[in-house]
Amino acid sequence: MLVLGIESSCDETGAALVDDAGGVRADVVQSQVDVHAPYGGVVPELASRDHLRNIEPVLRAALAQGGVSLRDVDGIAVTHRPGLVGALLVGVQAAKGLAWAAGKPIVGVDHLMGHLLAAFLRREGAACAAPRFPYVCLLASGGHTAIYRVDAPAADAVRELGATRDDAAGEAFDKVAKLLGLGYPGGPVVDRLAAAGDASRVRLSAPMASSESAEMSFSGIKTQVGRLVRQEGVRTEADVADVCAAFQAAVTGVLARKTIAAALREGVADVVLGGGVAANRELRRRMTDLAASRGLRVSIPPVASCTDNAAMIAYAGAMRLARGERDGWDLSATSRTALERRTRKGGGRR
Ligand code: KG4
Ligand code: ZN
Repeated sequence: MLVLGIESSCDETGAALVDDAGGVRADVVQSQVDVHAPYGGVVPELASRDHLRNIEPVLRAALAQGGVSLRDVDGIAVTHRPGLVGALLVGVQAAKGLAWAAGKPIVGVDHLMGHLLAAFLRREGAACAAPRFPYVCLLASGGHTAIYRVDAPAADAVRELGATRDDAAGEAFDKVAKLLGLGYPGGPVVDRLAAAGDASRVRLSAPMASSESAEMSFSGIKTQVGRLVRQEGVRTEADVADVCAAFQAAVTGVLARKTIAAALREGVADVVLGGGVAANRELRRRMTDLAASRGLRVSIPPVASCTDNAAMIAYAGAMRLARGERDGWDLSATSRTALERRTRKGGGRR
């Protein structure tokens, strides 16, 4: 089965062709980073307009890369939640138009399901060991951060074990980078600068660090960095690198320890990483080391499968299509995920 996937939930326009064994035949991602960079974050209205401009060329490029025409695909999968509604609508309407014109089935995909199943993608020259069900997956991106138990490749077989009470991990990377004047998006820059820094020269700690709970909090550490910048000054390049290193060590330490602890509590043998923050080299290293020390198998997808892409959407859609699921022309975009949410936002006992 060959599925055309379409992604437009945030600031990447993507189209991909993936088969139901996870083989990636084409994957095209047009990033909007340059559009939003001057504003220090994603501007929803500009995102929608740029998706409109990019969607057709991106779709054509994916079909050309795969060497197929629309006739050759068995179904169309499109991200329809969660995300910016105006951005999602561009992908949903394009998918409906193509499905109607070519007489193909259409399925909506929850973007988070895409991240949770991205470890099954097989790209030429880059694939990770496919996980076995059930597994525990850390999903850390710019908009969401949670630890899930995944029993099967279906949204109703996913249980949230704990999530952030406030900022997502990627959001914390982006905000800290902004405070340090490093531009947007912050994750990749902080990752690069941290490699040259000395974490022990700065005292930073992530709140809710106890591994007994899978709930997390990342807004406090951003506030700590803000205070450092205001009160002590972070002047030299070396100072900036040290703050990046300390921040990254604190955040990745909490993420890795809580994920491994959750996997041990659940009694699963496999641990998976997903979402843009899974591109972080320190997080990848910590997860690999910690999993090995506790006898767990770990699947860490190549970076192209961690950051937003349409291949993961096509694969998650292929799983729905394979079960005979179909959506109708009333498929609509919505800002919220369909996955169960247990963690209460905001305060409460920590
Ligand atoms: O999954 P993603 O591409 O988009 C969302 O669904 O949010 O994740 C984007 C997030 C951004 O916050 C970005 O700063 C972060 O992932 N990110 C990283 C790295 N690369 C991207 N964070 C830490 N280290 C990285 N190397
Ligand atoms: Zn994402």
